[in-house]
Amino acid sequence: MDPKAVKSDLVLILDFGSQYTHLITRRIRSLSVFSLCISGTSPLSSITSLNPKVVILSGGPHSVHADDSPSFADGFVEWAQSNGVFVLGICYGLHLLVQRLGGEVRVGEKQEYGRMEIEVEKSCGIFGGKKVGDRQVVWMSHGDEAATLPNGFEVVARSQQGAVAAVEDKDRRFYGLQYHPEVTHSPEGMETLRSFLFEVCGVNAGWKMEDVMDEEIKVINNMVGSDDHVICALSGGVDSTVAATLVHRAIGDRLHCIFVDNGLLRYKERERVMETFERDLHLPVTCVDATEQFLSKLKGVVDPELKRKIIGKEFICVFDAFAKELENNLGKKPAFLVQGTLYPDVIESCPPPGTGRTHSHTIKSHHNVGGLPKDMKLKLIEPLKLLFKDEVRQLGRILTVPYSFLKRHPFPGPGLAVRVLGDVTEDNALDTLRQVDEIFIQSIKDAGIYDSIWQAFAVFLPVKSVGVQGDQRTHSHVVALRAVTSQDGMTADWYHFEREFLDDVVQKICNNVRGVNRVALDITSKPPSTIEWE
Ligand code: XMP
Repeated sequence: MDPKAVKSDLVLILDFGSQYTHLITRRIRSLSVFSLCISGTSPLSSITSLNPKVVILSGGPHSVHADDSPSFADGFVEWAQSNGVFVLGICYGLHLLVQRLGGEVRVGEKQEYGRMEIEVEKSCGIFGGKKVGDRQVVWMSHGDEAATLPNGFEVVARSQQGAVAAVEDKDRRFYGLQYHPEVTHSPEGMETLRSFLFEVCGVNAGWKMEDVMDEEIKVINNMVGSDDHVICALSGGVDSTVAATLVHRAIGDRLHCIFVDNGLLRYKERERVMETFERDLHLPVTCVDATEQFLSKLKGVVDPELKRKIIGKEFICVFDAFAKELENNLGKKPAFLVQGTLYPDVIESCPPPGTGRTHSHTIKSHHNVGGLPKDMKLKLIEPLKLLFKDEVRQLGRILTVPYSFLKRHPFPGPGLAVRVLGDVTEDNALDTLRQVDEIFIQSIKDAGIYDSIWQAFAVFLPVKSVGVQGDQRTHSHVVALRAVTSQDGMTADWYHFEREFLDDVVQKICNNVRGVNRVALDITSKPPSTIEWE
């Protein structure tokens, strides 16, 4: 998508490393205003080429007094002023503005963290209709504070402790908030962002998912020649499905999808996703049964990393064969590959300044099971790369992807291989796990709690324990149940089930799945554990 084609003014966030930066982007988009986030130290040309109406300088963990503290490019202030661009500094962003414009920032006498009350000292401006003396609760998180304001700046609000909480220089269009309006702990923060964008800056709202879809279809059609062919590997997950459906809208059956059954899928997964692909979405999909190929390579393998590597390599072999066969049939090589890359993946690969991280692709490299053969030289189509997950779901709804499909829990690329501890080919582990998992997930759905859980699944343990069933002593397998809540999968807490629910599930599992006589519940958060067991 070309950001310039969006029918709304752009609000550009310069990221200085705050944990809340992406939340600002999302909050602004939820006001139907297009917002993008780039590194705070980006060259001036990267900022000007996007032609933003408003620039927000994010917070960050630094102090402007540190030697290596990140800052915006030289010439930014002059460019903003001469082009009528509004600038809002939040927390560290405010300190930067104050310091670079000739004011003074010093280490506050009392550091302010957490919930705090602020009082309006000057009506109008960023707080919309608020009057002098009006108070509100906000979320502070800072050590430094603005001590002397640059010429032209006025204090709009102060904290209980007397520290500057909001400032403005109306003539030059500079604004600053010492607190974080983007977090829910600042209950009126959203209202402040709204009045800042619409009343102060006069921003036009026009960011609609329907427009995103139309624009993407145009971009894809411009990119892909009229006799070019495109391939896409479907995982059964939301992102690749929505990406493929969008590309299919654009170029029809010159899109060729592949879905690989690697023998590590959930109960009836292949039938279920193929039905959605074909019946609901009319996608042209080739389903390849590569069960034997994968499982024979995994026989005897117990090391989790080795399992992941083998699966990744085998996937590439299957994909390569598919592309070659397609080339034979079409008489020409497919030229493009669709990938369901999302905005967080893009942001994560360009970490903000001061985090000490460089290119962070390696952090999740183990998640990228579907890596590509290097010599295929396919050009990438990444139609979702400016969207967050909930926006992808919204786009999916417009593209008529069934709602139940869009709400599915994430499923790892290496599938059940990372949920069977040890050799996946031993002890009928995969079949046993499928049955247990199906009972667990169905019970969760029946209890109406599926959407409150980020991810739920069962795990097969390669140990046996003694049990007694029907007066018989048994020596059978142990399975574990895992369900977590999370925002983004980076951290997670275990889901607290009702006791009756657990009683019922355990009974169903032990009564219906042969070879299982014990069920454990995983009550570990992430960290210290990961969500998956391997
Ligand atoms: P962990 O287990 O690392 O998982 O705490 C975080 C989230 O990522 C998913 N996950 C994967 N997804 N390929 C994927 O596409 C993978 O190899 C993979 N490993 C973990 C996991 O299910 C959870 O949602």
